[in-house]
Amino acid sequence: MILIKLGGSVLTNKDRKYSFRTRTAERLIQEIKESEVEEYVIVHGGGSFGHPGAEEYGLNSIEPKRPAEGMAKVQLDMRRLNNRLLEMMLDHGIWGISIPGGLITIFDEGELHEIDHEIVRRYLSLGTVPVAFGDVTIDKKRGITICSGDDIMKGLSEFADRAVFVSDVDGIYKEGELIKLFKEDMLPLEKNDLLDHETTVDVTGGMNRKVEKMMEISDEAETHIINGDVKGRLKNILDQEEVVGTEVKR
Ligand code: IPE
Repeated sequence: MILIKLGGSVLTNKDRKYSFRTRTAERLIQEIKESEVEEYVIVHGGGSFGHPGAEEYGLNSIEPKRPAEGMAKVQLDMRRLNNRLLEMMLDHGIWGISIPGGLITIFDEGELHEIDHEIVRRYLSLGTVPVAFGDVTIDKKRGITICSGDDIMKGLSEFADRAVFVSDVDGIYKEGELIKLFKEDMLPLEKNDLLDHETTVDVTGGMNRKVEKMMEISDEAETHIINGDVKGRLKNILDQEEVVGTEVKR
């Protein structure tokens, strides 16, 4: 099984609320369809649908503001994005099934505690494509928290052979240079390792946290990050061809 994370940065314009990048999303879906992969799960992030509301209500903090209202709103925003993708997939003959992150996970102090992978695997075995997404979820201590798409990737990684993170950058950089194989001792990334737009606020933790999670995922599955804005890279990596990007490995 292959896990494909479509980052919020490729699916949405991060600086414009509720701005769906229709053409890019359509091309990425087409590339998945044209590739040779058979069994895969799509996981997507929030981008400008999920992050602004989560930040406004402080849903990732210990003391959220008006949590019930925030939960209802952010959850709805994420479902709107998920629907856009599912409709598009249906138009391309891919039978996507919506799997809200908040209904398959339980967190503990902001960290993933449990994930119901049986649901995901059963939908897969029925010939559908589970489309899981970052969401508002239950936290045992805090009440609620945000479950990112990366948390879902981590939670499902023990059943995956490969994990592909599709973002809007070519991979991970260190001092201006794209790293082909990123090892644990290269962490942490410093501010000058990040490209300008990677330093923008992200309620689920920014680049270091993301790479640490990818490192954990790489214990279970071959893990790559590629640029989904460049035509053909997603299809090529799915077909095991060499592409510009970064492999993360401990
Ligand atoms: C965020 O998921 C989900 C919400 C804010 C509700 P991610 O953290 O995986 O989203 P992106 O990919 O960074 O946008």
